[in-house]
Amino acid sequence: MAANPAAVRNQAPANRARARPVPPGKTKPPPTLWRRLYDRYGTAAGMMLALLAIVVGYLGRDSRRLFAEQGLGYALGIVGSLLILTLLLYPLRKRIKLLKVLGPVKNWFRVHMMLGVIGPIAILYHSNFALGSINSTAALLSMLLVAGSGLVGRFLYAKVHKGLYGRKTNLKELLAGVKLSTAETGGAAQFVPDLMKMVAEYDRQVLKPPTGILDSMTLPLRLMVKTRTGYRRIVARVAEQLDEQAALSPVVRQHRDRLFALTKAFVKEHLKRVRRVAAFAAYDRLFSLWHKVHLPFFYLLIVTAIVHVIAVHVYSI
Ligand code: HEM
Repeated sequence: MAANPAAVRNQAPANRARARPVPPGKTKPPPTLWRRLYDRYGTAAGMMLALLAIVVGYLGRDSRRLFAEQGLGYALGIVGSLLILTLLLYPLRKRIKLLKVLGPVKNWFRVHMMLGVIGPIAILYHSNFALGSINSTAALLSMLLVAGSGLVGRFLYAKVHKGLYGRKTNLKELLAGVKLSTAETGGAAQFVPDLMKMVAEYDRQVLKPPTGILDSMTLPLRLMVKTRTGYRRIVARVAEQLDEQAALSPVVRQHRDRLFALTKAFVKEHLKRVRRVAAFAAYDRLFSLWHKVHLPFFYLLIVTAIVHVIAVHVYSI
C-alpha cells in the first residue's frame, strides 16, 4: 500500500480526549480529600474492620462471658435484629414512592450494605460464635446465607451499574462505544491492511451472548484470556505489516514506531471496551439470577428468625 506522507504526519493520538467546552457556572466543585479517601478506600477499610471484628470475636469466644439469653448478649441480639430490620428500608424506599421523604435511594443503599454487615456481626456476638439449638442454628445460618449472598450481589451490582451508586448501564449504550472506526486509529489503520479485519473478527468471537449460567460464570475469566491472546496476535501482525510497509516507503519507515504505538493503543483500548461489553452481558444475567436467589434466602431468614424468637421466649428452647 502506498504511504501518504501527509496522513503519516497528521496522525492524531488514538483515543485522545476531545476537549469539550464547559458551560460557565456548571462545574462541580472538586470532591474533598475525605470524600476521595472514602470513595477509594471506604469499602476496603469497612471490610477489613468487619473481618477483624469477626476474627477477634471468634478467637475470644471462650474467654468471654456472653450469653444469648441475658445481659449484653441478649441486647446484642435485639440490636442486630433491629439493624437488619432497618436495612429493609432500602428495598422499601426503592419500591414505595411515598417513602421519598426518607431521602435519596443511594443513601439507603449505602446504609443497607453497612447494616447488612454490622447487623449480622452483632448477631454473631449474640450467639457468641457458637451454634445452639436447631431453631437458633437455622436462624443464624439463614442470616449468614443472606449476608453472604448480599456481598456477592454487591460485586455483581457494581459490574452492571455506573459505579456502585450510579444508574444501571445498558448494553445498547456500551455497544455504541465499541463501534469500529478507522478514525480512532488516528489514521494508522491505512498502513496495516489487516487491522480492521482482525479486530472485527475478535469482536465477532467475543460478542456472543452467554448461553447459560455456567457460561456466564466462566465468561469473565475466559474473556481475560481471550483478550490477552487476541491482543498479542493482532499486535504481532501489526508489527509485521508495518515492517512490510516500512520496507516500501521511507516515510512509513521514519514514522514506523509512532504508527506502531498508535495502533497498539487503539487495539488495546478497543479490546478493553469490547471485553467490557461482553462481560456486561454475563454479569447482567448473573445479577438477575442473583435477585431470584437472594429473595428466597431472605424469606427463609424471616421465617427462621420468627420461629427462633417464639421458640426462645415461649418454649425456652
Ligand atoms: C442480613 C443481611 C441482609 C438482608 C436481610 C438483606 C436483604 C435484602 C433485600 C430484601 C433486598 C432486596 C431484594 C430485591 O429487591 O429483590 C436486598 C438487596 C440487595 N442487597 Fe441486601 N441484605 C442483607 C445484607 C446485604 C449485604 C451485606 C450486602 C452487601 C454488602 C447487600 C447488598 C445488596 C444488594 C447489592 C442488593 C440489590 C440491590 C438492588 O438490586 O437494588 N445486602 N437485600
